[in-house]
Amino acid sequence: MSLFLVYSAAMLLLQLVAQGQLDMEGALTARDRVGIQDFVLLDETTEAAFLSNLKKRFSKDLIYTYIGTLLVSVNPYKELDIYNKKQMDIYMGVNFFELPPHIYALADNAYHTMLTEFNNHFILISGESGAGKTEASKKILQYYAVSCPSTTLLNTVRDKMLMSNPVLEAFGNAKTLKNDNSSRFGKYMDIQFDSQGDAVGGHILNYLLEKSRVVHQNHGERNFHIFYQLVEGGSDDLLHQLGLERGCQHYNYLTQGQCPIVPSINDKNDWKTVKNALQIISFDETATNVSWMLLQMVIASVLHLGNVRFESDSKGHALLNNNTELHWLLGVDAHRLQEGLTFRKIEAKKDQVLSPFTTDHAIYARDALAKAIYGQTFTWLVNRINESMENKDPSRKTVIGLLDIYGFEVFYVNSFEQFCINYCNEKLQQLFIELTLKSEQEEYEAEGIEWEPVQFFNNKIICDLIEEKHRGIISLLDEECLRPGDATDLTFLERLEEKMGNHPHFVTHKLADKMTRKTLERGDFRLLHYAGEVTYCVVGFLDKNNDLLYRNIKDVSLQLILCQIKTCFRLYSRRRPETVVTQFKSSLQKLTEILVAKEAWYIRCLKSNESKQSGQFDEALIRHQVKYLGLMEHLRVRRAGFAYRRKYDVFLKRYKPLCPATWPHWRGVAADGVEVLAQHLGYLPDEYKMGRTKIFIRHPRTLFATEDAYEKCKHELATHIQAKYKGYRAKGEYRKQKEAATKIESCWRGTQARKEKEKRAWAVKVIKKFIKGYMTRGQAKSTDNSEYLAFVRQNYLNRLRNNLPKTVLDKTPWLTPPAVLTETSEMLRKLHYRLMVRKYVRGITPQKKFQMKLITSSVFKGKKDSYPQSVAHPFADTRISEEDINTRVIQMIRNERIKYCVPVIKYDRNGFKPRQRQLILTQTAVYVVEEAKIKQRVLYSSLKGISVSNLTDSTIVFHITREEPKQKGDLVVQCDHLFELLTKLCVIANKQNAINVVQGSINFEIQAGKGGAVDFSTGPEPMVYKAKNGHLMVVSWALSLLSHVSLQTFFFRLYLNIYYLF
Ligand SMILES: Nc1ncnc2c1ncn2[C@@H]1O[C@H](COP(=O)(O)OP(=O)(O)OP(=O)(O)O)[C@@H](O)[C@H]1O
Ligand SMILES: [Mg+2]
Repeated sequence: MSLFLVYSAAMLLLQLVAQGQLDMEGALTARDRVGIQDFVLLDETTEAAFLSNLKKRFSKDLIYTYIGTLLVSVNPYKELDIYNKKQMDIYMGVNFFELPPHIYALADNAYHTMLTEFNNHFILISGESGAGKTEASKKILQYYAVSCPSTTLLNTVRDKMLMSNPVLEAFGNAKTLKNDNSSRFGKYMDIQFDSQGDAVGGHILNYLLEKSRVVHQNHGERNFHIFYQLVEGGSDDLLHQLGLERGCQHYNYLTQGQCPIVPSINDKNDWKTVKNALQIISFDETATNVSWMLLQMVIASVLHLGNVRFESDSKGHALLNNNTELHWLLGVDAHRLQEGLTFRKIEAKKDQVLSPFTTDHAIYARDALAKAIYGQTFTWLVNRINESMENKDPSRKTVIGLLDIYGFEVFYVNSFEQFCINYCNEKLQQLFIELTLKSEQEEYEAEGIEWEPVQFFNNKIICDLIEEKHRGIISLLDEECLRPGDATDLTFLERLEEKMGNHPHFVTHKLADKMTRKTLERGDFRLLHYAGEVTYCVVGFLDKNNDLLYRNIKDVSLQLILCQIKTCFRLYSRRRPETVVTQFKSSLQKLTEILVAKEAWYIRCLKSNESKQSGQFDEALIRHQVKYLGLMEHLRVRRAGFAYRRKYDVFLKRYKPLCPATWPHWRGVAADGVEVLAQHLGYLPDEYKMGRTKIFIRHPRTLFATEDAYEKCKHELATHIQAKYKGYRAKGEYRKQKEAATKIESCWRGTQARKEKEKRAWAVKVIKKFIKGYMTRGQAKSTDNSEYLAFVRQNYLNRLRNNLPKTVLDKTPWLTPPAVLTETSEMLRKLHYRLMVRKYVRGITPQKKFQMKLITSSVFKGKKDSYPQSVAHPFADTRISEEDINTRVIQMIRNERIKYCVPVIKYDRNGFKPRQRQLILTQTAVYVVEEAKIKQRVLYSSLKGISVSNLTDSTIVFHITREEPKQKGDLVVQCDHLFELLTKLCVIANKQNAINVVQGSINFEIQAGKGGAVDFSTGPEPMVYKAKNGHLMVVSWALSLLSHVSLQTFFFRLYLNIYYLF
């Protein structure tokens, strides 16, 4: 049985090899075809090798590759059939390296590690815009939704988490040049699990929404999706209620990018999805409706605000005349709004002074208000979603955090936003390096292997350059924003140059050498990030960092958002708020703290090309991403010590066939088995290390050599196992057949023996009876001797049969019979002799016939002239066979044996008319037959004489004794076989003495008292006719003539003459 299992396993493995569905090690065998599934196993850690492997896999639609436990994902820009339920099932509960790389494998391993170790995890998804981060986070969420255990209650939590996506995407995503659904905020979502592994709640943190997009979009880009969804998907009633018109072209805030319609986006449908999603996220029903209405009003307000226009008076002050849009701004006192948009309120001690805005200032204030409203609404929305997903149960939970954060960004012109984003990426990279190194180090420590220092690029220097207290760029920016006097973007740049002058990662036009200076504008500064150089334009840095909202506008906005939404607005204190960058820095700090406390998993998303085309692998673009995502750094860290490590049991299980000592079973500790195996494979001491639970292999080539050997050995083993198995099967079959044969044999023998026994019993009985019969054989027939006597009879008859005399002349004595058969024997003897005599008579040979000839001779020799000619002609048994005799005649004479038949010509007694007749001799009579009629029957007893002439003719006269007068007279016939007929008659009827050979005439009786005669003479021609005297004249050849004529001619002529007679 176990052999069968081994065989099945081997066959399965071979099948898997054939299908290419292999586990991690298994796929090593296919490395030439589909590349390597883990970059750690690359032979050389060069960028070229890295890219080539990535490309090889991408060309086969294998978009995922590992670097240890980090997942690299390349955006395929096409739907792949790898995200279905079947795939999810395959990856559920399966160890990381047992299946080809997949996002489900990572999600599943994070989940199971969380469950077994009961600790918190996070999955950091990073990559540049459009690389697939949001898609990846959705796939993970879907995986948890399907694979985690669930109840109806939990299903609602699960649905809320899933549905938070479309809502947040509507409010936080927009079409950019890089991505039609670009997330314009950073998102960190915690999924909370209870101790059973059920997803019981969630929490979202959002970072740095790109608010500037509300009021300005670059060419080819759009505002946040929700605006377009409202004006395209909202019902007519709703739009009327909100004072909106259908069509994006009516709104300044929607048309700056000049691409309100995007083919890949269906705003109408998305509007419905968002509405449904909000229902599911369910603020309670009435509250949902109120909140939803308010949300729509806020969106509409922003659109109306964008359409507010200013004029300027003679002094250049902004005027807001007759602006109908203001009417639609929710619940705001138009006067206060007008004042807020055209005047600045300055507080001097206890007095408040209104200073008029220029038109530009007014526009700035309007936009600032729009951004503030939208920004705060977004925060409010996130909070509401959090409330809805919150799990209030105080029991301890573990979490998996999903961080979908904007990746490193480099544009043609990079501004404050890019600075923040890239700073964020620097921080995450630092965290990432620290955590990876830490985990590596921890693993080495846990395994008791000496830590070898790793050379890697430490980006702490850049992080410090940006965030160091009092000296970093952020501090200097804040200083410039806060200091009294005329601080501008350029003064900020000067401060930077002043403070950072010598920093190796900082360059400006002024600080740069000649060559570099050519690539820089005066208002630029360049940071040498870990991922590459980025040039920032300082214009707008101060304004964006201040994010100023004038006091009276703040009041307006507070008034603007009704009770629900208002509660979520930050209460504006009189203290100056923190600058944007400082807020961002501290939120990043908090995020770092959150992340550090968790186990990290990484997904690095790569964009395959800029044109969003499937199947295109833009090497330059990917090289760039590989670089700024720090993948090579990560790989080097992972590869720092050892390229490959595996638990002893796993390693031994796979490679044990390579060593006779470990194959097929290693009975000892797995570690010892691995050591034996390594020795056998000839691993050099510095090529591997034995940890506490794992073997560490330094170079991939060592592993590949092992793998190649295994690949070769596998086939041999498979054949071996196959042969063994076939032998085993054949032996089993043979054993079965043998058992069956033995069984049949014994059954057969039993049957035979039983038969034999029965036979013997029967024989004993028979013999007993026989003896008894023998002893009583002389007595009268009784039950005791009847069988014996029967036996004696049968025995005698059998013996007699074999000892009968063969012929009459055989002198073998007749077998002496037992007493009981004396009489029978005598009867049999007589019968037998009669039979033999009869046989003898029947079988008379021509020689016997010669005896007949003797009779003929004795009767006719010297008496009848034609006799000498007849001697040479043998007698026949008969001249007419029985078939030629009419059946009726045969019927009539059936009681008499027919002895001889011959055709004759019978002459009528009156007139001698010749008639063709058959003459039949039987035992008792002569019959004259015409066809079916018996014309005359002459009993031998009434045949008183037979007359023939002495000449050569063939006429015979039968003289008959008439007992009755009516009886027919004598018979005159002519027969060609005269001698034969008469001799047979002599023999049959014993009439030898009745034959008279007459000279001259023969008288005969026509009827009683009336006579007739036949006269005979010789002549030149034989003929028969009625002579004038009334006699029948028979003329025949004289003897002298006859000697010249053959007998046949003779008869022929006779016939002719007779013919004339007719
Ligand atoms: N695994 C995938 N399979 C198929 N298509 C994908 C996959 N990942 C991403 N895409 C495609 O790429 C597009 C961009 O992906 P996504 O929105 O996730 O990028 P992103 O990294 O979140 O970008 P941003 O930083 O701008 O938000 C998707 O709309 C989708 O068309
Ligand atoms: Mg995104």
